[in-house]
Amino acid sequence: MNAEALDEEARGILRMNDRGGYTVPTDGLYPYQWNWDSGFAAWGFAQFDLERAWKEVETLFSGQWPNGMVPHILFHKPDPGYFPGPDVWGATNGPVPSSGVSQPPVAATFVRAIWDKDRDAGQGRLQDLLPKMIDWHRWFMTWRQEAGMIFITHPWEAGRDNAPDWDAAMAAINPEGVGEYTRRDTSHVNPEMRPTKYDYDRYIWLVQQGRAKGWDEARMAPDRPFKVADPTMTFILLRANRDLLAMTEALGADTREIKGWIDTLEQGCAALWNEALGSYDSINLRTGTYSGCVTSASYLCWYAGVENDRMLARLRAETSNLRYPVPSTTPSHPEFNGKRYWRGPTWAILNTLIGMGLSEAGHPEAARLLRQTTQDLIAEHGFAEYFDPRDGTPAGGGTFTWTAAVWLAWASPSVGDL
Ligand code: DGY
Repeated sequence: MNAEALDEEARGILRMNDRGGYTVPTDGLYPYQWNWDSGFAAWGFAQFDLERAWKEVETLFSGQWPNGMVPHILFHKPDPGYFPGPDVWGATNGPVPSSGVSQPPVAATFVRAIWDKDRDAGQGRLQDLLPKMIDWHRWFMTWRQEAGMIFITHPWEAGRDNAPDWDAAMAAINPEGVGEYTRRDTSHVNPEMRPTKYDYDRYIWLVQQGRAKGWDEARMAPDRPFKVADPTMTFILLRANRDLLAMTEALGADTREIKGWIDTLEQGCAALWNEALGSYDSINLRTGTYSGCVTSASYLCWYAGVENDRMLARLRAETSNLRYPVPSTTPSHPEFNGKRYWRGPTWAILNTLIGMGLSEAGHPEAARLLRQTTQDLIAEHGFAEYFDPRDGTPAGGGTFTWTAAVWLAWASPSVGDL
């Protein structure tokens, strides 16, 4: 492996996908600013351009709604190559045309990482961002929290669009009246590697429901057609709150509210444990039933600061059975599909979060192994969006911002020891 050449290629991808103040996940397929992609992009930039790293997060928060929500897509400039665009979402609630749902809140964690590299010069920028991050997290605790678990109201909100976690909740939706529409994603990527039309009918139908209520949380809350408690969201927000707490403490501001959120979410994590499955799982809150899915999100416990021996044993088994773990859906699940987006492929960003958690939790060997296979995966198969966990077949295109970002910040040999 030529690590220096790969580092240079990764920096080149970030520069190429830079649209001036924000980074697109990849040209063509995703031509706007995506929320969690942007968090990773900022962390990647922080490895070689701190100014640009801060700017990425500041541009993301320029789209924050008055209610605190930071949307999952900001449509800064029109682009007919993407569907569903701003005309379909019809969300004019914020300062920038946007989608009407959010995405996993990785921003505070990466802001802390950027600030750690830029303590003096970055102080003022952190001071400006801190209340905005607090408002966003409060929005989650107010509008997306039940019994300490964070739920999603649309599969796109979890970032894991077509994970089997949502199958039962999606099957309960009748997308009647959704109308005709033309997908754009399948003209950029092989349809076999993307969500199906069955999924898309429901994705769009859910957008139409939110739009009909003006994306007003108070109007939507009493009767949500889709409401699933999600380990991605719950673990990531818990972790982000710990980072927010550290930054708030460092700036000498009041931390009581954030400490309360941490307590609440720790209880929520325990509720996501499905004893029969022996794993963290999602729960359809409309029926109270577990989804029965071991996914890569189940392994985010350590990232959230939650220890679990049984998950560690599971991870070891998964790592010895597959060339390139961690599969987004475990291969023993009947719906496993190694090529179709979140139904099996490995995502380098999830590996990174899992690996960070393992190192911090005192599992250096498991972290080292996961970093090694992720390093091999990218070195051998490129900066793709996702990869078949069995043979590494890449998908989604080879110039993905967040894969390049995690290479620079975590996977590359030049990062040194974990
Ligand atoms: C898409 O368009 O596939 C995105 O994942 C939605 O956020």
